[in-house]
Amino acid sequence: MSPQGTPKPHAMRTARPADHVDNGFYGQDVISVRQFSREKLVYIFSVADEMRTLVRRFGSADLLSGKVLTNLFYEPSTRTASSFMAAMLRLGGRVIPINEVHYSSVSKGESLPDTVRTLECYSDVIVLRHPEVGSAQIAADYAAKPIINAGDGQGEHPTQALLDLYTVQHELGRLDGLKIAMVGDLKNGRTVHSLTRLLSLYDTEFYFVAPDILRLPADMVAEVKARGHKAVEVEDVHEVIGDVDVLYITRVQKERFTDLAVYDSVKDHYIIEPALMARARPNTVLMHPLPRVGEISYAVDQDPRAAYFRQVESGMFIRMALLAAVLGKA
Ligand code: NCD
Repeated sequence: MSPQGTPKPHAMRTARPADHVDNGFYGQDVISVRQFSREKLVYIFSVADEMRTLVRRFGSADLLSGKVLTNLFYEPSTRTASSFMAAMLRLGGRVIPINEVHYSSVSKGESLPDTVRTLECYSDVIVLRHPEVGSAQIAADYAAKPIINAGDGQGEHPTQALLDLYTVQHELGRLDGLKIAMVGDLKNGRTVHSLTRLLSLYDTEFYFVAPDILRLPADMVAEVKARGHKAVEVEDVHEVIGDVDVLYITRVQKERFTDLAVYDSVKDHYIIEPALMARARPNTVLMHPLPRVGEISYAVDQDPRAAYFRQVESGMFIRMALLAAVLGKA
């Protein structure tokens, strides 16, 4: 990627009409979970609760009527793209969906800065998924309108981490004093990176379960330990399954491998079956950001501890809350 032109001075971001709620999110980008404090999470989760009630009672509202979201996706997506779209539609806004960018001028070689500077002329907020780490920040440097990071390569996926944390809160009723095992591709899984950072704000014990070549990056393990958390790295999920409150399993990220033989050697390393769940505690929450490609057998879906489709539903409420917040209507 070669950025072109000059980034906009951040001062320009303050030149907005005053018809908004001053909630600390208005006009802001959402690039990394590092932007969130416990107080900000309480706020977003309470707005998400209101959105849940709103959808259950009325289906939709007109809070964002007249507003336009551009969904700009350079990588495949089912849940993230459609939940942002559903969130905007349920709040009365409209969406310009640009998927996998084959039919846009990106395929003619247009740069990311020029693409976002164009799309912000038509819309009030841009949701961006892109294969390169740091791309969301580059987009935010050039666009005056809010950019929401929907996944930047192996970097971060902040909105997924928000919905994951919100799900934990819903399932267990608390966020402090929990033990979590993260299992699978901890090296490339951006959802793991964002969720680990968010959980570092709470009293959390971490168990990082991965084959050697998919371990969490060493700087992230060090970061967690430096914050005073217990962080244990193991390869065998049996060692921890009976001891954790949350079991967060992830897909091996095939698209990040240059050698598919290496991918094949690790892709089936962990498979959650009913026999394995029998060793977990009665209230352990089983989570997965989805898509699953074999890591959780379908037989586990009947287990009341399987929370992955409840995660999906919560994702829409969290994205409704975020859109309302950055557009100054929450
Ligand atoms: C995740 C992603 O895109 O990082 N998917 C999602 O947004 N729920 C996880 C994955 O693709 O494995």
